[in-house]
Amino acid sequence: MSNIINNKKFIYGINYLKNTRNKIKKKILNIKKNNKIIPLIVIINVGNNKSSLIYIKNKCKNFKYVGIKYKIYNLKKNINENKIIKLIKKFNYNKNITCILVQLPLPKNLNTNKIINNINPYKDVDGLHYYNIGKLSQGNPYISPCTSKAVIKLLNIYKINIIGINILIIGCSNLIGKPINMSLINKGCTVTITNSKTKNIKKYIKNADILISAIGKYDIIPINLIKKNSIIIDIGINIKNNKIKGDINYKLILQKVKYITPVPGGIGPITIAILLKNIMKIYKNKTITFNQ
Ligand code: GUN
Repeated sequence: MSNIINNKKFIYGINYLKNTRNKIKKKILNIKKNNKIIPLIVIINVGNNKSSLIYIKNKCKNFKYVGIKYKIYNLKKNINENKIIKLIKKFNYNKNITCILVQLPLPKNLNTNKIINNINPYKDVDGLHYYNIGKLSQGNPYISPCTSKAVIKLLNIYKINIIGINILIIGCSNLIGKPINMSLINKGCTVTITNSKTKNIKKYIKNADILISAIGKYDIIPINLIKKNSIIIDIGINIKNNKIKGDINYKLILQKVKYITPVPGGIGPITIAILLKNIMKIYKNKTITFNQ
């Protein structure tokens, strides 16, 4: 087991999170010293999706560590959409609230886009409002979705060249796949993005120098086809026998790949670091208002 954990093929995000946390902790201490209002993030969680509860717990642990204030609103699964929107509008106008985050996925009966698009884009810490997604797609982001920025950061930290190579993203959600696609295109990469209806996915897997998995299902990718010396970025979080797993059964391909991100410990910590940074960016610009 220790062989696996210490394997140089793993690329981690823990150190980046630790460094970012320490810098932000100092900034918050300074804010407190100067008696200024401390950043406050509200998290809206609807229902009790197991993965969401893990994500939220993790985020809050880090808010607490750096001294960012947070408040969680746990809403019932069958809540009316308009009630959520009303709550969001109340938060939009509350000057003490710096950021609003709606934990995804929402239950299927709710219109996710409509809900997200009611957040003031300048409080949209996830960068998922159409204003922020639009700016990202123009190559001029204000607040970028945390996971897409985390992927770019990780590639950067490990000095992985992405110019001119084939990158495959499996999964095309508004939250993960699509923003990563845009971020990589903005960096000059050649990107293929597949969805559940893609024909002959094997062809794309065989050709990928970097494979980014954002499916949210464990061990369904035919990994025997993965290219030798490729790089695997695993964004999945799945609960299997009460353990956290990514999308990839890494033990089966460790020998074959150049690098792989473990789950937990890979992209997840960088995503949280980016969330902390997004909060601080919004806090710094908090005088901006948005006239819709
Ligand atoms: N669910 C999984 N990851 C995320 C995230 O980064 N933001 C939100 N809002 N929901 C998520």
